[in-house]
Amino acid sequence: MRLSFQYTWILCLGLAYAAPLVPRDGASYCFGNVKGNASKISCPASAGGSCLLVESAQTTIVQNFTLGKTKTTGFVAVDDTNKLVVVSIQGTAIRSNPIDIVTDIDAIRVNTDLCGNTTANDGCEIHQGFWNAMNDVQDIVKSTIAGALATHPNYTVISTGHSLGGAVAALLGATLRNNGTNVDIYTYGQPKLGTVDVSNFIQNQAPSKGSNYRVTHFNDIVPQLPPHSIDDWDHYYPEFFINLDTGAPKATDIIRVDATLFSTAGNEGKTTGDGIIADVIAGISAHRQYFGNISRCDPSAPDS
Ligand SMILES: *[C@@H]1O[C@H](CO)[C@@H](O)[C@H](O)[C@H]1NC(C)=O
Ligand SMILES: *[C@@H]1O[C@H](CO)[C@@H](O)[C@H](O)[C@H]1NC(C)=O
Ligand SMILES: *[C@@H]1O[C@H](CO)[C@@H](O)[C@H](O)[C@H]1NC(C)=O
Ligand SMILES: *[C@@H]1O[C@H](CO)[C@@H](O)[C@H](O)[C@H]1NC(C)=O
Ligand SMILES: *[C@@H]1O[C@H](CO)[C@@H](O)[C@H](O)[C@H]1NC(C)=O
Ligand SMILES: *[C@@H]1O[C@H](CO)[C@@H](O)[C@H](O)[C@H]1NC(C)=O
Repeated sequence: MRLSFQYTWILCLGLAYAAPLVPRDGASYCFGNVKGNASKISCPASAGGSCLLVESAQTTIVQNFTLGKTKTTGFVAVDDTNKLVVVSIQGTAIRSNPIDIVTDIDAIRVNTDLCGNTTANDGCEIHQGFWNAMNDVQDIVKSTIAGALATHPNYTVISTGHSLGGAVAALLGATLRNNGTNVDIYTYGQPKLGTVDVSNFIQNQAPSKGSNYRVTHFNDIVPQLPPHSIDDWDHYYPEFFINLDTGAPKATDIIRVDATLFSTAGNEGKTTGDGIIADVIAGISAHRQYFGNISRCDPSAPDS
């Protein structure tokens, strides 16, 4: 399933610290791939090898974007080595894109049409900030992917992101599936998207319309937000839970959790028991490391 490989697409995208949980965001990761004119994806040596798998592949960024009121940032790339069309969405970038903070905390839920008519429970309500961010980029992503697939009909489409970028990537993946394109969704440290209909819908799109890989790391606080106990925020499954605090995870450290809506068998079970503030403090550093550090790739990038 290549969880660690798909992760490198995020490392090569941009920084992804979680605002407002982390007071300082570090270097913007390989910033040139997003804002610059780079075509083949490249990362500086300071990446520490995290991006080597992507850098060694034959890749072309076919479209980059920073769009809408949410200034949602990302790219669509074609990887000829691995036969992929990749949508990668940047996570919260406090300095380069401070509006991300507004997007993150815009956590009222709006009724959406994502789920079609499968709205038995709550009308397919989604976090307004994530939904707006998805809508700001869906047209360009759809048209770019359609163009890429016209040239490479057999390539697999993946949608990926970390943190806020993971939430938007999941909603984009679900939207593209509704639009007739099969998409594998890979998210890392993704917060909850909405309520029961949303989770059921995305969960049930798999496997026929693509697979879902929602990766969580140890006590990362972000996938625990917004809290399930408040107003029934839910997750789709399976969850791929990295049950290792620090260091490089081995295959045996990754536990697949299958559930419906809520399970404490994975990340949701890793709480301090001392309340949300304690969980936030304890769980920030895990948010910044998945298969390696999420940032600090390029100290010379504009965000540092
Ligand atoms: C991209 O290329 C254009 C045209 O060469 C140039 O004006 C612009 O400054 C470049 N942008 C960046 C971020 O390097
Ligand atoms: C990436 O974005 C920059 C700045 O908007 C633009 O000049 C460049 O053409 C874009 N590259 C691609 C491949 O979209
Ligand atoms: C929901 O929509 C699908 C596809 O449009 C349709 O096949 C199905 O009958 C609908 N179900 C209900 C309960 O309306
Ligand atoms: C796509 O895959 C099918 C089945 O494997 C094959 O017949 C076809 O030639 C492939 N098309 C391209 C453009 O590679
Ligand atoms: C996909 O979206 C495009 C652009 O919005 C639209 O023209 C097309 O009809 C959609 N296709 C499907 C199958 O929903
Ligand atoms: C991750 O970054 C921290 C500093 O923020 C550093 O101490 C640690 O060694 C890094 N880990 C890896 C695997 O690069």
